[in-house]
Amino acid sequence: MNKEQLNTYSEKISLAHQHLLAAIPFPPEVGIILGTGLGGLLANISISMEVDYRDIPFFPVSTVESHAGTLVFGTLGNKKIVAMKGRFHYYEGYNMKEVTFPVRVMKKLGISHLFISNAAGGLHPDFKVGQSMIINDHIDLFPENPLRGANLEDFGPRFPDMSEPYDELLIQKALDIAKDENIHTAVGVYAGLQGPNLETKAEYKYLGKIGADAVGMSTVPEVIVARHMNLPVFAISAITDLCAPGKIKKITISEVLQAAAMAEPGMTTILRKLIESL
Ligand code: HPA
Repeated sequence: MNKEQLNTYSEKISLAHQHLLAAIPFPPEVGIILGTGLGGLLANISISMEVDYRDIPFFPVSTVESHAGTLVFGTLGNKKIVAMKGRFHYYEGYNMKEVTFPVRVMKKLGISHLFISNAAGGLHPDFKVGQSMIINDHIDLFPENPLRGANLEDFGPRFPDMSEPYDELLIQKALDIAKDENIHTAVGVYAGLQGPNLETKAEYKYLGKIGADAVGMSTVPEVIVARHMNLPVFAISAITDLCAPGKIKKITISEVLQAAAMAEPGMTTILRKLIESL
């Protein structure tokens, strides 16, 4: 990326930020990316304002109608939040700067924490369909990095640290909440791949061997960009299918969604209580 392009990207972030700042009722304290498995959290949000991605300058816009998304502003418990209803996946054809654009804008709006959910295949042999997994580390297997190119100096350093991408205090608090509420969850490593095809048996075996407990097609880019800006992150996966040797079977998207719905109540409780505890 040359200097001219870099300015353009920073300017786009600023223009989206200014547009929203002029429209929103209050600056958000917490950002949430509502992936598969966290739609139910919306029911707990008292919504003040909802902005169509199409109405935000330079926000990536999906050409697929079913993927149209909105930015939701409101309160969750005692916290002012902004939530992305619908995220951008690399496999849809967006580049990494587009995938992570909303995270930059949410940080500029003032969020102090980012919460993320996703659906993932379970590689750990003990995992069950419909449980959740709190992410405590990741393996980036995407072919592109959102920080590639000239560094955005106003946002963070050239070589951001990744020794603790997921906030350990929040993980511990989430585990305490899960215990108190009798929610079956686990903690583990998420491998992020571009998709959109699911993995072969040999690939699942490989992912298990290199240390991954779950695999999916999102989250890693957003976490890299959040950590570039020193934004604390908490992320949780709904385990929608089993990928350990001997447990792999053909799956359909409706089975994935059904399994995510099983994990949803527990994930929603963990997230809601965690955010209220900040
Ligand atoms: N692989 C990749 N992504 C996924 C999977 C999987 O098995 N399940 C849900 N998302």
